[in-house]
Amino acid sequence: MSNMLGARRRLGLVHVVLVLFAAALLVADAGVTSSYRRKLEATVEMPLDADVFGVPLGYNAPQQVHITLGDIEGTSMIVSWVTANELGSSTVFYSEASPDPYMMELWAEGTHTRYNYFNYTSGFIHHCNLTNLKYGTKYYYAMGFGHTVRSFSFTTPPMPGPDVPFKFGLIGDLGQTFDSNTTLSHYEANGGGAVLYVGDLSYADNRPLHDNTRWDTWARFVERSAAHQPWVWTVGNHELDLAPELGEPVPFKPFAHRYPTPRRFAPAAAAPPFWYSVRIASAHVIVLASYSAYGKYTPQWKWLRGELARVDRAATPWLIVLVHSPWYSSNGYHYMEGETMRVQFERWLVAAKADLVVAGHVHAYERSHRVSNVAYDIVNGKCTPVRSRDAPVYVTVGDGGNIEGVADNFTQPQPGYSAFREASFGHATLEIMNRTHAYYAWHRNQDGAMVVADGVWFTNRYWMPTDDDDTS
Ligand SMILES: *[C@@H]1O[C@H](CO)[C@@H](O)[C@H](O)[C@H]1NC(C)=O
Ligand SMILES: *[C@@H]1O[C@H](CO)[C@@H](O)[C@H](O)[C@H]1NC(C)=O
Ligand SMILES: *[C@@H]1O[C@H](CO)[C@@H](O)[C@H](O)[C@H]1NC(C)=O
Ligand SMILES: *[C@@H]1O[C@H](CO)[C@@H](O)[C@H](O)[C@H]1NC(C)=O
Ligand SMILES: *[C@@H]1O[C@H](CO)[C@@H](O)[C@H](O)[C@H]1NC(C)=O
Ligand SMILES: [Fe+2]
Repeated sequence: MSNMLGARRRLGLVHVVLVLFAAALLVADAGVTSSYRRKLEATVEMPLDADVFGVPLGYNAPQQVHITLGDIEGTSMIVSWVTANELGSSTVFYSEASPDPYMMELWAEGTHTRYNYFNYTSGFIHHCNLTNLKYGTKYYYAMGFGHTVRSFSFTTPPMPGPDVPFKFGLIGDLGQTFDSNTTLSHYEANGGGAVLYVGDLSYADNRPLHDNTRWDTWARFVERSAAHQPWVWTVGNHELDLAPELGEPVPFKPFAHRYPTPRRFAPAAAAPPFWYSVRIASAHVIVLASYSAYGKYTPQWKWLRGELARVDRAATPWLIVLVHSPWYSSNGYHYMEGETMRVQFERWLVAAKADLVVAGHVHAYERSHRVSNVAYDIVNGKCTPVRSRDAPVYVTVGDGGNIEGVADNFTQPQPGYSAFREASFGHATLEIMNRTHAYYAWHRNQDGAMVVADGVWFTNRYWMPTDDDDTS
């Protein structure tokens, strides 16, 4: 075994030196450290007057519009937006038939919230839950009645079912630089139906006093996608905004007011839980919270134990877990930060035969083989990850392009569990075809162009647990 590993490693080195990673992927299952490097220019935040941050015209015009799934089944949608001048109306009108705001026959009354952060005062943040929606149906919706009306549309997720196809975008650590804009544009060109967002949104906290106007600009920036399809939010460390020195001792304040989840709705929003799940098409998506307690007996621990028992792979074959801090990352940055959560929960995910764990946090891309490291206890010494057909693939897509730049410091040599890693920006897509097959791809931002640098067919761990990552 160790000879084989050694041989693989030597093979890997030869490939990295001599041939392109793509060829290496075809020939052997040795880990690949891609030789591609983005031009090492600084990641620059888009200026306040950038086109993507434009405030919509008109008095008190709704801005920062985004939609969030309102329940686990996908028949409710929470519409969120901000008005800046005055409270205005929290009503959303909507319709299957008419794109004309004044002809929309359905309506729902929302609620609003506001917060202060040091010397910043937010606009009026509206949240409105549209309920009893039909599956797989296009709805027009509008808000801002009484002042400036804006209208949008979304399509609800298809009815859950074992063979229902769906294409997800996987994006993390996006921020609001020119690179962030490239990543979002590439995702839009790829045409997914929902974004699984693995945390760290605006990076407002990198600015003096956590300048919360950068939470506003970020939401205006992503509106072009997030108003039209649900983004599934995972909380990251840049959502903490914990600053007792500024008189801000309550964690997650801006994020919690702005981004509801199916289990956390304004105005009682400024509190956990940040863990929840949604079902979309043939996928059951579990969202975990790296910065909320997850030790034994904590609410998150109890919830996850119960939720894994509620997953029905006959109805939703694909079990996907989102978390901010990766459990398997061989990057020197944030090295082993996700380890305590891995130790706590990995055995449950292996027992449940989860298909995919998606993380962010590390600003580079990495995909693991199907590995498990659950044999270890405090005395037996079995602490090396081993290949397992029951184990998920772990991907890290914290490479959205935020202001902190690329995490260009992989540990050497590449560990055996790491299948592919690259220090550049991009996003991934997961295209579920049916209960057995899904095509996963990572799309690098290459000097403005979008290049598929890593693509794999995944087979489902419940319906077809084959050795899908054995690329030899
Ligand atoms: C908040 O305080 C900072 C530092 O004193 C100042 O630069 C900024 O203009 C203030 N912002 C508001 C909205 O008062
Ligand atoms: C962001 O990307 C969009 C779509 O590609 C483009 O229209 C816009 O000009 C870009 N903005 C900036 C500031 O790069
Ligand atoms: C939205 O409405 C649905 C249907 O009434 C309900 O089940 C769900 O809990 C609501 N979502 C939130 C976040 O309040
Ligand atoms: C690179 O990663 C190693 C761990 O592998 C760490 O010791 C080192 O401090 C990192 N370097 C930088 C510049 O972060
Ligand atoms: C599932 O999708 C894969 C990939 O498109 C295809 O090869 C396979 O035949 C499909 N299975 C069924 C049962 O349709
Ligand atoms: Fe992070």
